[in-house]
Amino acid sequence: MSTDNTRRGVSHTPNNSVSHTPNVFIHESSYVDDNVTIGEGTKIWHFCHIQSGAMIGKNCSFGQNVNVGNNVKIGDGVKVQNNVSIYEGVELENDVFCGPSCVFTNVTIPRSKYPVHGVYKKTLVKEGASLGANCTIVCGCTIGRFAMIAAGAVVTKDVPDHALMAGVPARQIGWVCECGKKLDADMKCECGRMLLS
Ligand SMILES: CC(C)(COP(=O)(O)OP(=O)(O)OC[C@H]1O[C@@H](n2cnc3c(N)ncnc32)[C@H](O)[C@@H]1OP(=O)(O)O)[C@@H](O)C(=O)NCCC(=O)NCCS
Ligand SMILES: [Zn+2]
Repeated sequence: MSTDNTRRGVSHTPNNSVSHTPNVFIHESSYVDDNVTIGEGTKIWHFCHIQSGAMIGKNCSFGQNVNVGNNVKIGDGVKVQNNVSIYEGVELENDVFCGPSCVFTNVTIPRSKYPVHGVYKKTLVKEGASLGANCTIVCGCTIGRFAMIAAGAVVTKDVPDHALMAGVPARQIGWVCECGKKLDADMKCECGRMLLS
């Protein structure tokens, strides 16, 4: 293992075939498996594991202790805070934010004795959506564009674009702008944007 903790575009896994540009940062404590694509400007910090077949876009950031599962697709500009596992079956579009310790799932009815090998329910998080700290996304749900999921919420159903969701189970408590601020009764934001229905 290298002692250079700023090595770029290199994995510690021997004989791998990581496919990405040189302008990628992978901390030496992280592992990147075979056949992974990582876009320019992406940073992978301490103790991460990127599994085989993952496709990660440009300018993303993965905090400490992040796992990206097999064949997971992640767009550009995605930020993943510490302690998040993005399991097979999950897709994150551009500019998604995953708060610290948020939880994805990929099996609705898990049983250790009756495993469902390779049959995973999908979760799609659309462009610009934010997932608050410690929220849980039950698999099979789609989170709409620019939606905001409150800290600690448990999402059990599809979430509309721009919806603000909170609680267990998560209920809609408002609408948010692309910038993240709450919309007023006329669906206007203080930033000047307006949400047209
Ligand atoms: C949901 C959230 C976006 C709302 O922010 P806000 O608009 O400033 O909300 P307010 O503080 O005005 O609260 C509005 C109401 O929602 C409730 N609320 C706020 N956060 C909540 C949460 N996480 N779960 C349940 N209810 C929540 C408040 O108690 C308040 O209820 P009330 O009207 O009955 O008093 C914010 O509280 C939140 O959870 N942000 C996520 C933070 C995070 O995880 N960041 C990760 C990166 S560090
Ligand atoms: Zn706004």
